[in-house]
Amino acid sequence: MLLDLIQGTVFAMRLKPVLGSLLVLSSSPLVSALLTANETSQYVKIANDRLAFSVNKSVGAIDFLTLDGQDLLGSRSSTAVTPGGATGNGRSGIGPYLDCYCTPKGSYTPGSIDATYTVFQGVDASQVRYGGVVMSEVYPPTGQVLEQYWFLRDGETGLHTFSRIAYHNSTTPFLRNLQEFRTLFRPNTKIWTHLITNDQLAAPLPVPNPAAGSSANSTTVQDATWYLGNRTGDPYVEQFSDYFTKYTFATVWRDHTVHGMFADGSDIDDGSTFGAWLVMNTKDTYFGGPLHSDLVVDGIVYNYLVSNHHGDGTPNITDGFDRTFGPQYYHFNKGPAGGSWRELRDEAVKFASPSWNANFYDSVAQHVPNYVPTSGRGSWEAKIVLPKGAKNAVAVLAQDGVDFQDNVLDPAAYQYWADIESSNGKVRIDRIKAGTYRLTVYADGIFGDYIHDGIIVKAGKTTDSGRLVWSPESAGTELWRIGTPDKSGGEWRHGDMRDAQHPLHPPEYRIYFGAYDFIDDFPHGVNFHVGTSDEAKDFNYIHWSVFGGYANFLRPQQVEGHGEINNWTITFDLEEKQLRRTNLATFTIQLAGAKTASGNTDVFNATQAYNDLPFVVAVNGHELEPWIIPYYLLSSCGVRSGVVCYQVSHKFTFPTRYLATGKTRNEIILSLPYNATDYESALLPRSVYVQYDALRLEVK
Ligand SMILES: *[C@@H]1O[C@H](CO)[C@@H](O)[C@H](O)[C@H]1NC(C)=O
Ligand SMILES: *[C@@H]1O[C@H](CO)[C@@H](O)[C@H](O)[C@H]1NC(C)=O
Ligand SMILES: *[C@@H]1O[C@H](CO)[C@@H](O)[C@H](O)[C@H]1NC(C)=O
Ligand SMILES: *[C@@H]1O[C@H](CO)[C@@H](O)[C@H](O)[C@H]1NC(C)=O
Ligand SMILES: *[C@@H]1O[C@H](CO)[C@@H](O)[C@H](O)[C@H]1NC(C)=O
Ligand SMILES: *[C@@H]1O[C@H](CO)[C@@H](O)[C@H](O)[C@H]1NC(C)=O
Ligand SMILES: *[C@@H]1O[C@H](CO)[C@@H](O)[C@H](O)[C@H]1NC(C)=O
Ligand SMILES: *[C@@H]1O[C@H](CO)[C@@H](O)[C@H](O)[C@H]1NC(C)=O
Ligand SMILES: *[C@@H]1O[C@H](CO)[C@@H](O)[C@H](O)[C@H]1NC(C)=O
Repeated sequence: MLLDLIQGTVFAMRLKPVLGSLLVLSSSPLVSALLTANETSQYVKIANDRLAFSVNKSVGAIDFLTLDGQDLLGSRSSTAVTPGGATGNGRSGIGPYLDCYCTPKGSYTPGSIDATYTVFQGVDASQVRYGGVVMSEVYPPTGQVLEQYWFLRDGETGLHTFSRIAYHNSTTPFLRNLQEFRTLFRPNTKIWTHLITNDQLAAPLPVPNPAAGSSANSTTVQDATWYLGNRTGDPYVEQFSDYFTKYTFATVWRDHTVHGMFADGSDIDDGSTFGAWLVMNTKDTYFGGPLHSDLVVDGIVYNYLVSNHHGDGTPNITDGFDRTFGPQYYHFNKGPAGGSWRELRDEAVKFASPSWNANFYDSVAQHVPNYVPTSGRGSWEAKIVLPKGAKNAVAVLAQDGVDFQDNVLDPAAYQYWADIESSNGKVRIDRIKAGTYRLTVYADGIFGDYIHDGIIVKAGKTTDSGRLVWSPESAGTELWRIGTPDKSGGEWRHGDMRDAQHPLHPPEYRIYFGAYDFIDDFPHGVNFHVGTSDEAKDFNYIHWSVFGGYANFLRPQQVEGHGEINNWTITFDLEEKQLRRTNLATFTIQLAGAKTASGNTDVFNATQAYNDLPFVVAVNGHELEPWIIPYYLLSSCGVRSGVVCYQVSHKFTFPTRYLATGKTRNEIILSLPYNATDYESALLPRSVYVQYDALRLEVK
């Protein structure tokens, strides 16, 4: 079957008379542009004048990658895979490559059983030569097909990637959930010195990196989380934090463009700098909408296509499932000695647009099943009349009829979003796969969402939804609110607040939760008085049921307290006139995240008391009907450095006669069950917990 074939086709590119768009794409002159692709029984090797890569056919991964002769991957190596240790199959010095958590057994790295390879070569619509290869493997026990595509164009120094999973099996129509699907650029070389999430968050890599299995002078404090504070001369510890975890560098998809690693030149002969970036030029094949958050870099540069991190949903793999994710673009670049990561990243950010290289993707669509070319896409526009006070508004088009956080329910659904212009409410989205969508609009400062189902986008057309008026939800007169409704729990203590001790001042929520001792911070519990208390000081970013114990490095003894941990108190004063002619009070709680006993796995465990979590509110001693937060789609949030996770909300209603006026102070208790913990298969805190987005009280 394998052909020992050297194709050796050399395409000498003549410089075409000025192609404006082309020149923007390339930082190097095209004069010597030259793309070749060779295939043997062992490998497929493709190169242009600057970038060369080789896919090793016995592992299904790229194991050779150079830019201007500089090796970007280093040597192949393997680390033992241990819980909380090295990720995936533990192999490094490879990538970008594909892996998944998608078989009945769990993880699987396709390419080493019986993969087949097809090499593509051609000239795209812009007269630029490209080469590409697909690795395709059928997983024998189930018949699942996994494919990874890599393309290189002349004049570019990066790899365009697509990843596909298909399942056709009518005898076993339900396989399992697609729990994790991702590509990884996973070098094993000391050249890489910095991790970069976005233009706000970067840090030196810890030396050595415990996430890469080098645990010298580190102590595991939680699953995949290490205390490094005893290290001397580790730039990460000096500049960023005593704790390291891959979740620290996670991010939310909404505004995300480019993440990656930087080589500051200290380990490169002539001191040149290099960058390895994942460009999210398209986001329509991911799931979960703009609120999806995930890992991006930890010594590996990830492209997380699907995961259940932070409570996000995952699709089921059922008979007929066939989805291609991408394109995304791994960009590699080189800068002068002494240059900064910002310049190299800024270059990559220019590519982070769905229109970038659209013609090229149309040209390769013939090779990539399921890729929707421009001819299958349309545009949408509208003018949204936003509520007063709305800030940072966004319009989302995703699966019709469901919360966009749940768009995994239809494994064929795509998703789009764009910021709404604050001056005139205009919004426009291009390159939308033809179909029917739900529009969701949300904005900072406004409780609830605007929802409009049944928006039809036709190929080659622009759908104009005209003027849409968002009348914000209301249950009468607002007496008070605390927190900002913005789908984030960052405004509270230890949230977005910057760490004062380290020169890079990371936001505190990104650091291991155990660094902030709830009992020291709130020895008498949370007592928040509306109007005088300070959100950033007097309200914690995580509402625990118990604190300390398992996975708490600094407080290894679990503390249940006597109601001052699980019960939080909000007090407020009302004047008699505020309640005049009212009878119904509505207390809204929006949560930015919640963790119940189903924890990380979303698995209902019948032995556990708090799969579904009863959240109780008591108003001046009147206990309201509990809100049962359901077990599914909820997961680790704050303990995985999250303040934006799967969002849920609830409205408690009660008669206004429960409220007091004048000198009598009102008291609302937010109550989690006392001493509520659960079984954790990984080293993670056992307490259930919630994280607030915002709360408000209204009367009518
Ligand atoms: C492919 O083979 C030709 C002829 O041996 C060689 O000139 C070219 O550099 C090779 N290209 C790659 C990417 O290995
Ligand atoms: C491909 O990987 C195999 C397995 O690790 C290794 O033995 C082989 O040398 C590699 N092939 C090439 C061409 O590097
Ligand atoms: C379908 O799935 C079952 C159970 O996993 C497996 O035994 C069978 O071989 C699969 N069929 C095909 C065609 O792969
Ligand atoms: C850190 O160093 C101190 C002093 O050498 C030692 O007592 C302690 O056990 C070390 N802690 C860890 C977590 O390595
Ligand atoms: C390792 O930790 C010890 C304290 O436990 C410290 O004295 C030593 O300098 C550390 N070594 C390195 C290389 O960080
Ligand atoms: C996946 O299948 C299970 C079992 O049928 C079902 O409960 C769940 O809702 C499905 N999830 C999705 C995202 O379709
Ligand atoms: C917490 O508040 C709830 C609701 O008012 C109450 O039932 C419970 O007794 C309080 N104390 C503890 C320790 O949970
Ligand atoms: C359910 O919880 C029990 C402990 O009560 C544990 O032994 C078991 O592994 C858990 N099951 C799952 C599927 O996590
Ligand atoms: C709290 O729960 C733990 C089990 O997680 C149990 O050992 C402990 O006795 C309980 N504490 C109280 C005061 O009920």
